[in-house]
Amino acid sequence: MKCVVTGGAGFIGSHLVERLLLEGHEVLIIDNLSHGKKANLAKAAKFIRMDVRDRGLVGKLRKYRPQAIFHLAAQISVRESVDNPVADADANILGLINLLESAVEVGCPRVYFASSGGAAYGEQEQFPAAEEHPIRPVSPYGISKAAGEMYLDYYRSRGIFAASMRLANVYGPRQDPHGEAGVVAIFARQMLKGQQTMINGHGKQTRDFVYVDDVVQAFLLAMIKSLTGPYNVGTGVETEVNTLHTLMMQAAGATLPPNYGPTKEGEQLRSCLSAGKLTTDAEWEPSVRLEEGLTETVEWFRQQKKL
Ligand SMILES: NC(=O)c1ccc[n+]([C@@H]2O[C@H](COP(=O)([O-])OP(=O)(O)OC[C@H]3O[C@@H](n4cnc5c(N)ncnc54)[C@H](O)[C@@H]3O)[C@@H](O)[C@H]2O)c1
Repeated sequence: MKCVVTGGAGFIGSHLVERLLLEGHEVLIIDNLSHGKKANLAKAAKFIRMDVRDRGLVGKLRKYRPQAIFHLAAQISVRESVDNPVADADANILGLINLLESAVEVGCPRVYFASSGGAAYGEQEQFPAAEEHPIRPVSPYGISKAAGEMYLDYYRSRGIFAASMRLANVYGPRQDPHGEAGVVAIFARQMLKGQQTMINGHGKQTRDFVYVDDVVQAFLLAMIKSLTGPYNVGTGVETEVNTLHTLMMQAAGATLPPNYGPTKEGEQLRSCLSAGKLTTDAEWEPSVRLEEGLTETVEWFRQQKKL
């Protein structure tokens, strides 16, 4: 298949690109490199440095003639979305609409969208949350993902058959440790540098940590099985941030206990997703246990020349 991966220079996108190439697909990466890295670009993929909001996108797609589009390009920080909701909506909502208009124009009906389970469900009522759980985002980022899913529904009437992959907390090699998002990468860097780590709040907040390779597999299956509609991509296992910290100290051989800081606005207390629908429809199961994935991740960070 001829695939487009927006955000293919980023963390999850670059892993997805590699896997698609490995499976024999052709890939065009669209990324503005606002957060992604040139070093993440797979050599065998084509690359266009472009913003997904750029009206020139349709021309590039017309030339390439994709059969499937994976839309991962986004502003990814919950905190930045709280500080600057306009910029968040601009990138995440207008970017998606421009992409969908372009997909309609060039006749590419398959779109796979990186949504966020945790951010879209907000404070959960059921654990783990299934896809029927009410959508009640508590941050502009969550609202932009939820709005994105509604746009995808609307574009069904325009011939787009899209799946929204509601990702849990994804972690793994290449995640940016410098931003505010991606607690595993942030802890890994700080621990390996012998620095003090900081947990926001009491650390009893929970997250569902899913390894990047399992997420890539979910995207791949979405394309192979032509999935449409929302799909959770999580492990169903709730892990306290305090527990994560302890596991990471073991993996990194760190000894400093964490500091505790104030709770951050826009972040929910508990988050955990049921991927039962994805298991039923596409036989997806998470294959990497947290301890295993953390060890892989820490080892990857250890091997980086510059942390
Ligand atoms: N990492 C997670 O835990 C997680 C969880 C839920 C959902 N997601 C979603 O998955 C997707 C990928 O996340 P990631 O963690 O790999 O983030 P990332 O920042 O590493 O990757 C995003 C990529 O998109 C590019 N980008 C950003 N805005 C762009 C724009 N306007 N035009 C073109 N390119 C642009 C960036 O340069 C970057 O390479 C995002 O949509 C994110 O919201 C991630």
